[in-house]
Amino acid sequence: MTKSICLFNHKGGVSKTTTTFNLGWGLARLGHKVLMVDLDAQTNLTGLVLGFQAIDDEKMDAFYSNRDILTLGPIVRALIDGNTPDEFLRNERAKVFKTGHDNLFLLPGHLDVSDLDSQISVSLKIASGIPSTRNIPGNLPKILSLVAKDMGADYVLYDLSPNVGGLNEVMLMSSDYFIVPTSPDYFCLQAIGSLEKNIKKWHREIKRFKEDNDFESPSFSIKNEPKFIGAIQQRYRPRNDKPATSFQTWIDKIRDAIANKFVPSLNQLNLVIEREKIESLLNGTGLTPFDLAHVPDFNSLIAISQQLSKPIYALTDQEIKSVGKVFGHAEETMIRSRDNFNEVFTALANRIVELTK
Ligand SMILES: Nc1ncnc2c1ncn2[C@@H]1O[C@H](COP(=O)(O)OP(=O)(O)OP(=O)(O)O)[C@@H](O)[C@H]1O
Ligand SMILES: [Mg+2]
Repeated sequence: MTKSICLFNHKGGVSKTTTTFNLGWGLARLGHKVLMVDLDAQTNLTGLVLGFQAIDDEKMDAFYSNRDILTLGPIVRALIDGNTPDEFLRNERAKVFKTGHDNLFLLPGHLDVSDLDSQISVSLKIASGIPSTRNIPGNLPKILSLVAKDMGADYVLYDLSPNVGGLNEVMLMSSDYFIVPTSPDYFCLQAIGSLEKNIKKWHREIKRFKEDNDFESPSFSIKNEPKFIGAIQQRYRPRNDKPATSFQTWIDKIRDAIANKFVPSLNQLNLVIEREKIESLLNGTGLTPFDLAHVPDFNSLIAISQQLSKPIYALTDQEIKSVGKVFGHAEETMIRSRDNFNEVFTALANRIVELTK
């Protein structure tokens, strides 16, 4: 069965998209079949996967008009027009786009996703009694899970935008698990508090939506039971392999806010993975429960990675040397850094596999 995982934080620029790509590739490398879905109208994930052709308007037009590739464009139109997922998929079987890794696939994003977001938000608020729109919220997760099931995906990763609209609400509340990428600063700490309130509000709203519309059958696509698996702290600047003191302060504060406030609060609604599972998994790693990984700043490796549409940790020595145009000491430093990232992301992918078993 496909396991669905949302990467979400309503705080912008905390590495949701980058982590979706790195984690997707990491899971694919372990032999799992993975679908990434770009649900942000900014289409950053699509740009990351397509690389430099995404900057060329003509190439992008050709990409989006290629009827052999399924994108979110026709999905959004079908849902807004009131088509059922089954009707839509009868004609669109398994046309997902293959990335640079054989096991990793992408459902490319589309600007029109924001129209669907507005429709879903309205439907959730005034749904009861309006038959033409009441199915739209449930049909989005339904159609996406059918696409993932149809291709035989082991994991589907949803890259969400940094907002709290209806689309993110239905995707998060319908997924099996969610991960919160965060970065060590004051705004991110603030965001943990509002994220907790927001998820609780979503949970109440979906519960009411299901009751009002008699959507309580176990097969309804918005289960309202996503489990928080943990946070990933990003982009601190390491000194001697440890975060600089100023970053460490925020890392600690964010970790404490998650462990002592966010988790207990969501636990009351059964929205957190079992503590024993994560405790035993992280035992001996230096990480504490709900911290899934600490990812330092990629520095100059990021430019090479974006140019080649490959995660930093998957770059070969030769790619670092020729694309990065480095040699000698600089080259050695970058290769060492790539190896460190490789360890971090391999451990992360393995942890996600264990936690979602
Ligand atoms: N570990 C890292 N080191 C250095 N740069 C990073 C790292 N992670 C992400 N970035 C860069 O930070 C920026 C924001 O990352 P990304 O787009 O993944 O965040 P996001 O949370 O998806 O943003 P948004 O909220 O806009 O969707 C990008 O320019 C990305 O290349
Ligand atoms: Mg993003």
